Amino acid sequence: MYKIAVIGGDGIGPEVTREAMKVLQVTSELCGFKYETTDYPFGSEHYLKTGELVPESVYTEYREHDAIFLGAIGDPRCEVGLVERAVIGGIRFKLDLYINLRPIKLYSEALCPIKDKKCEDVDMVVVRENTEDVYTGLGGIMKQGTPDEVAVANMVFTRKGCERAVRYAFELAKARNKDNKVTLIDKANAIRAQDIWTRTLEEVGAEYPDIEKDHAYIDAACMWLVKNPEWFDVVVTTNIFGDIFTDLGAMVQGGMGIAASGNIHPGQVSMFEPIHGSAPKYKDKNVASPIAAIMAVQMLLEFLGEDKGATHIEGAVATLLKSGRLPSLDARSGFSTTQVGGMVVEELKKNKVSKTSL
Ligand code: IPM
Ligand code: MN
Repeated sequence: MYKIAVIGGDGIGPEVTREAMKVLQVTSELCGFKYETTDYPFGSEHYLKTGELVPESVYTEYREHDAIFLGAIGDPRCEVGLVERAVIGGIRFKLDLYINLRPIKLYSEALCPIKDKKCEDVDMVVVRENTEDVYTGLGGIMKQGTPDEVAVANMVFTRKGCERAVRYAFELAKARNKDNKVTLIDKANAIRAQDIWTRTLEEVGAEYPDIEKDHAYIDAACMWLVKNPEWFDVVVTTNIFGDIFTDLGAMVQGGMGIAASGNIHPGQVSMFEPIHGSAPKYKDKNVASPIAAIMAVQMLLEFLGEDKGATHIEGAVATLLKSGRLPSLDARSGFSTTQVGGMVVEELKKNKVSKTSL
């Protein structure tokens, strides 16, 4: 019996979460695993109503779960970043979810904005370091509002943080056995502190003689992601560069409506979410694509070792996209959030996975 904590969150979060949970339920019935969910109300609405962000005691409760699912956080009525830092940042930092795993995979050529790219040209996984860099909050503002104002945000990199991310990337490249290549993306030419990444890649990479070590600066990497996405297999990068690179990656794979992520600490409770935001203007309009949230469930099941269920969900989404029945991953698809969720469920049922085939 898996225990899954669910945070619908803000904006379109609850709507896409509802569809993702429908898909989880049907997959569990088809594949024969059992789970129970605990709903948590955290987000901007909860904050505005109660003044509470996230109580400290909740992290103990989270740890009693096998996984956490999160819809989206963010509301323009609240101070910029306040609730995101508390709810998302809280989970990432306090549970030490040091890997942010973000696959970039194209399921239908028609979805790719780059001309002449085939599905096999866009198939990479970004390993975004998830607990350091400018996200630690080290820094501050002095003499605010005066002509002498100083604002500092420190980029923090520890050997431990770099090493566990780099090692994860090499292990992933080995397991994927695709191009057997790890590309480090940094900006060590301008930010000398990032030399720690260069050295860590060399040292850890020496333990993996069969995996090619590649390197790109973030500016050039963005260019290559658009020009030659086929050059990437496994990418490892810093927290902020990973954040930026994967939004671009999402567009290359068809849009924010499909890109999912796993915030992972191997062997411990981990959190899965679409990489898109809360899109407040589409809240309760039933137009947002639930596919990214559904793909986050796919990643969650893979993490739990429910490979059959994960493959099954990916297969259903891929079939809808490849056949053109779901022509896009945004409101232009002509289908509502609930309709798209329903289409995935129908597809899952068609490809019935029986218990005996497990
Ligand atoms: C993401 C988001 C977050 C981040 C925000 C909401 C703080 O953009 O998960 O990519 O910057 O990590
Ligand atoms: Mn982001």
